[in-house]
Amino acid sequence: MRTQVGIIGAGPAGLLLSHLLHLRGIDSVVLEIRSREYCEGRVRAGVLEQGTVDILTEAGVADRLHREGLVHHGIELRYGGKGHRIAFERLVPGRAITVYGQQEVVKDLFEARFAAGGTIHFEVPDVELHDIDTDHPSITFQGQRLECDFIAGCDGFHGVSRKSIPEGALTIYERTYPFAWLGVLAKVPPSTEELIYAYTEDGFALHSMRGPEISRLYLQVPPDASLDEWPDDRIWAELKRRLETIPDWELTTGPIIERGITPMRSFVAEPMRYGRLFLAGDAAHIVPPTGAKGLNLAAADVRMLAEAISHWYATGSDELLDRYSDACLKRIWRAQHFSWWMTTLLHTFDTDDAYGRRLQRSYLDYVTSSEAAATTLAENYVGVPFERFG
Ligand code: FAD
Ligand code: DHB
Repeated sequence: MRTQVGIIGAGPAGLLLSHLLHLRGIDSVVLEIRSREYCEGRVRAGVLEQGTVDILTEAGVADRLHREGLVHHGIELRYGGKGHRIAFERLVPGRAITVYGQQEVVKDLFEARFAAGGTIHFEVPDVELHDIDTDHPSITFQGQRLECDFIAGCDGFHGVSRKSIPEGALTIYERTYPFAWLGVLAKVPPSTEELIYAYTEDGFALHSMRGPEISRLYLQVPPDASLDEWPDDRIWAELKRRLETIPDWELTTGPIIERGITPMRSFVAEPMRYGRLFLAGDAAHIVPPTGAKGLNLAAADVRMLAEAISHWYATGSDELLDRYSDACLKRIWRAQHFSWWMTTLLHTFDTDDAYGRRLQRSYLDYVTSSEAAATTLAENYVGVPFERFG
């Protein structure tokens, strides 16, 4: 079996890369360890930057996104008994975010790939990479060999691609946090029009949504928390305690239809390339979800990877392939900092002393009263513009 680009992983990174390559006349095969149903049912991120919406729109996979996505021009920071709006329309005119579930993006991409005759093998448990430091790399799975010109490792943090790179060839930068997020999807109309990021002395909470009938909510929980300890009434009580902190505001409760616990980690592997293997998305980097950057970074990576690979086919030149890792890392490190900063600002740290809390309060007051500080938050949240590549 032969293809031009072998793609490991059918998450947002792998599927979007496959589609962007197809639009440039380049053939790919996607290998995914899970079933299509599992991939489509996996509830994760929900905030798309303007640039991500633009990539999906240009790729022709955003019709439903434009119909059903919720365009937001601000977020609320809630603390100290008050809500403070960060107004994108004033601070970063013309830029906004769109709230649209990652699983919907994945569904739209599957549909586009299959409509275009794309090849995706599901439930492939035994992917192995070979000869990645030569110009004839290959992938074996289920007794078959897929020969390719390039391999794209889009298989997330726990995937096989990054682990196939010899020890010592990558430098790892990492930080873990002393808490996790408990996330729920609830069949109840959102109690807010815009997202609320709430800081309390008892921990962080976030109110997001998926549409007029579905709310998405998150709670800071201990890093070793288990779902068994969090029955529905405890989840709602804790959400109310952390969100009902301003006068006359009430959180409407309802049936919880999905729940999960996400560990919090910052991680970067450099460079994002070894020979003919290119890493993209969570396979190369993870951010804590507070800044809503994970999915957006994955889209930015594959936008550049598709460009670099198509430049090679068009000209035979390695120039863009050689620049891929550095170009991605510049944006990634900005998002790393922003995500670490939002996380540090809004969460309660176990080890936090009174001094640490005073620092958080001081910075929250600064961000909600200074136009300059609010603009810093806003321009990072909506996503810094793409730099020219290619
Ligand atoms: P993934 O979406 O992880 O896709 C990788 C794909 O590769 C998966 O389909 C996986 O099944 C497949 N795969 C793995 N191993 C193999 C293998 N050996 N062989 C073949 N296929 C393989 N970001 C936010 O911004 N906000 C959030 O609220 C948020 N919540 C999250 C919750 C969880 C539980 C997780 C894990 C992540 C969350 N993220 C969030 C991050 C965001 O969802 C990711 O950044 C995004 O999914 C990255 O896309 P990706 O395609 O790089 O990786
Ligand atoms: C969502 C997730 C995030 O991590 C975030 O910062 C904002 C919203 C969400 O799932 O809607």
